[in-house]
Amino acid sequence: MHRVLVVDDDRVLQDSVRQALEFHHFYVDVADNGKQALSAVQKEHYDLVVMDVNMPEMDGITALTEIKKHDPSIIVLILTAFSNVGDAVKVVKEGAYNYLEKPISSENLVALIKRALKARSLVETSVFSAPSLSLGKTDDKFVGESDVMKKVFNVISKLSQVKTPVLIRGESGTGKELVAKAIHYNGSRKDEKFVTINLAAIPDNLIESELFGHEKGAFTGASERKIGKFQYADGGTIFLDEIGDVSPSMQVKLLRVLQENCFTPVGANRDIKTDVRIIAASHKPFEEMIKVGTFREDLFYRLNVLPVYLPALRDRVADIPFLVDYYVKYFNNVHHLEIKGATDEALEQLKKHSWPGNIRELRNVIEHSFIIESSDYITLHALPETVKRGKSAKVEVSLDDEDEDESAQIDFGSIKDSVLDEGKEHQNDGGFKFNFDDLGPADSAAMDFQIAKELFEKEFIIHALKINKGKINQTALKANIPKKTLLRKIEKYEINPKSYY
Ligand SMILES: Nc1ncnc2c1ncn2[C@@H]1O[C@H](COP(=O)(O)OP(=O)(O)OP(=O)(O)O)[C@@H](O)[C@H]1O
Ligand SMILES: [Mg+2]
Repeated sequence: MHRVLVVDDDRVLQDSVRQALEFHHFYVDVADNGKQALSAVQKEHYDLVVMDVNMPEMDGITALTEIKKHDPSIIVLILTAFSNVGDAVKVVKEGAYNYLEKPISSENLVALIKRALKARSLVETSVFSAPSLSLGKTDDKFVGESDVMKKVFNVISKLSQVKTPVLIRGESGTGKELVAKAIHYNGSRKDEKFVTINLAAIPDNLIESELFGHEKGAFTGASERKIGKFQYADGGTIFLDEIGDVSPSMQVKLLRVLQENCFTPVGANRDIKTDVRIIAASHKPFEEMIKVGTFREDLFYRLNVLPVYLPALRDRVADIPFLVDYYVKYFNNVHHLEIKGATDEALEQLKKHSWPGNIRELRNVIEHSFIIESSDYITLHALPETVKRGKSAKVEVSLDDEDEDESAQIDFGSIKDSVLDEGKEHQNDGGFKFNFDDLGPADSAAMDFQIAKELFEKEFIIHALKINKGKINQTALKANIPKKTLLRKIEKYEINPKSYY
């Protein structure tokens, strides 16, 4: 029998929740405030705590943090009269499994409790493996020594053993895609396909056919029958990246796949069964979107059975030296250099930065420093101004963005990824290498940063165009350069994209 602790200063509510749970055969104890709850979990074992927020002595959020410190495996559900979405996000970040808004229906509460217990039992029965996670055939590695990342690795190794949907949340550049790959490549589906689809990058009207396929003649331009990603990925994993960006009508269709494991291709009158593990990711505030009606609550709950919250880099500063070390080795290899690391002073500055672009930004900063640094160590002077000033770098850009500081927008990270992704088709490219000899001898005028930057930009854009076969939109997207900026640079450097078709 599962043991539940119900914590509420409102005795009437406390009692009605207790009765509802006892009716469903839970063993229930009660507490009147956070303080009592904490001492109860310290004395007895509980599987789950259902807790109010506003209570005398100790409020629910403080109690949640303390309970999680005492035993992270206890599932905590928060009952709240939130009008404030920020609080809701906070409790989930603090480790609450989920929250329910008052007035609560006992049906919803019991359903949520059962789902939470089921998710935990799935995770508990799987084996723990060390954080030497495989990421498939890429050179990428997962780096993380902080306690919070060790927990994430632990969760990944467990999630990889089950088929339940996973929702990965975290700011841009925190490694959501890497987590998705790790879950796939460390589980039983590792030899099957891992298919990524970026839902924010595909026009709304094409998403359905991308995902589910279409029949010949289903719409203008559908000259052939085409299978969709859900069929293509059968037996493997589909990674629905940026799921927070899909339209409400697509949300309904995705919900159906999650519930019934089947879908209908566009223009077809038959259903197709699929055995695909779904991993979704987004940096979007789902709680807020549910409130304003742009994201379906039922889809969120379906996906959120096993959530993974990736911490921002600024919240795990302990990882910065290890990441710097990792990327120094990585770029030594790429650029054939022998940089030994960062000076203490540079490292201190890196630890102070707020990293709005998280690991992707750190990676870019290290590569930036490689180009500028002439000594054996990355010194303070080689760091970009944004980091030196302790200000945040602009890293998130959309295709339509226009920005003055163009150099900060080149995403070395994603271009490298696309080289890896498409490595087979572009073996001749052999990755992007910048030739430092082009800068001339160290004492020449060409050893000037502006000139170096321009040379680099030009080489980079040519390389990106080659990989993307001269297609402007695709290059802009993959290399994370605003399209307008890309076009301006193409003109400036007199590059002819057509020559890479
Ligand atoms: N823990 C880590 N160790 C090493 N590299 C990492 C780690 N996390 C992320 N990276 C690297 O950082 C870059 C960004 O990671 P990823 O694409 O997975 O982030 P994301 O959360 O999906 O970002 P976005 O929301 O912008 O899509 C990638 O180059 C990835 O290899
Ligand atoms: Mg991503």
